[in-house]
Amino acid sequence: MNEVPTTMFAWTKTIDSTGGFTRIEHPVPIPAAGEVLVKTHSTSICGTDIHIWKWDQWSRENVPLGTITGHETCGEIVGLGDGVNSHSLGDLVAIECHLACWDCPRCNEGNAHICENGSIFGVHSNGAFGPYFVIPAVNARQIPEGLDPGYASIQDPLGNAIHTLTGGPVKGATVAIHGLGPIGLLAVNAAKAMGAAKIIAVDWENTYRMNLAKSLGADLVIGKENDIVAEILAATDGRGVDNSCEFSGSPQALANTVHSTRMGGYVNILSVYGNSMPEVPMNEVVFRYLHIKGINGRKMWSTWDTMHDLLKQELIDVDTILTHRMSIDDFEQAIDLAIVGNCGKVVLDFN
Ligand SMILES: NC(=O)c1ccc[n+]([C@@H]2O[C@H](COP(=O)([O-])OP(=O)(O)OC[C@H]3O[C@@H](n4cnc5c(N)ncnc54)[C@H](O)[C@@H]3O)[C@@H](O)[C@H]2O)c1
Ligand SMILES: [Zn+2]
Ligand SMILES: [Zn+2]
Repeated sequence: MNEVPTTMFAWTKTIDSTGGFTRIEHPVPIPAAGEVLVKTHSTSICGTDIHIWKWDQWSRENVPLGTITGHETCGEIVGLGDGVNSHSLGDLVAIECHLACWDCPRCNEGNAHICENGSIFGVHSNGAFGPYFVIPAVNARQIPEGLDPGYASIQDPLGNAIHTLTGGPVKGATVAIHGLGPIGLLAVNAAKAMGAAKIIAVDWENTYRMNLAKSLGADLVIGKENDIVAEILAATDGRGVDNSCEFSGSPQALANTVHSTRMGGYVNILSVYGNSMPEVPMNEVVFRYLHIKGINGRKMWSTWDTMHDLLKQELIDVDTILTHRMSIDDFEQAIDLAIVGNCGKVVLDFN
């Protein structure tokens, strides 16, 4: 194993404006008790990174200037803090970015993903757009045997997709995926892998992603040229789907889910909305007896277990979803590509 250097260059949010990243020198962090030091293999670009790039109100309130961002990542353990015996040097790990206290009522009831004292790695504290990072050992999940380490960084968004899907029935169920960004595409493929009876994929006008959805297992792909609610009803004997998942962030799509989910069905919402008060047809929710659920992060660790089962069986077509692999040197171009959207998942490699 190569020796760990004392300093490193990392992409850092330094300037209080759109863009505003510089690649500057930092000390390589030293793992505290209970932490591991990871040498970054790959870090993928998340919608959250785009928010931070655009420096919207949420980012300004949450990301301290000077933070090394990036949270969808994987790498090799090259240092162990005191008391860490769950991991060994050389282990390949993917990161759960929700940092929990493990000692509040939410953590104790098994909901550490919504820990009352939680924070997000690479948002509230330094993350993985640099060559080394530290993380609590419990957040460093061993990657399934045989999985290409270059693919492992997508476990954070794949986990989001599976957590959302499993808010309702999947095996043998009719499922609609609204919004075919990277997470929606992963959800289409995971629904297929988990045995959904019919998968309806909905975007607005991103034909690149609509075509990808078709090859990832969607039975029907629709967009702005279609009457979305009418098409979903027609494809489900007029009933609506069992399980609608909302990944678009569009209030119109949210309303569509309510109108196109069957009586007593499930609407699971991962999206974050620009305006936090989208209009929801509430009487439809009531009279259709819908189960509406907000989804945050991934369950620790049942979502990870489900995901690893699927990855081990090679049921997730990572190769198709991961459309662009670029060098970390090209960080700014990669963000531009993700903003334009002619891509699935964009991954930055460090080697
Ligand atoms: N809650 C969480 O823990 C969590 C975690 C990660 C991401 N998110 C949120 O999940 C969502 C999905 O993330 P992503 O990066 O895959 O999204 P993205 O923004 O890359 O993609 C959204 C897609 O929705 C499509 N779209 C726009 N209007 C639509 C409409 N009316 N109907 C159907 N599709 C429409 C767009 O063309 C685009 O392809 C985002 O809102 C993101 O902020 C939430
Ligand atoms: Zn993310
Ligand atoms: Zn907690």
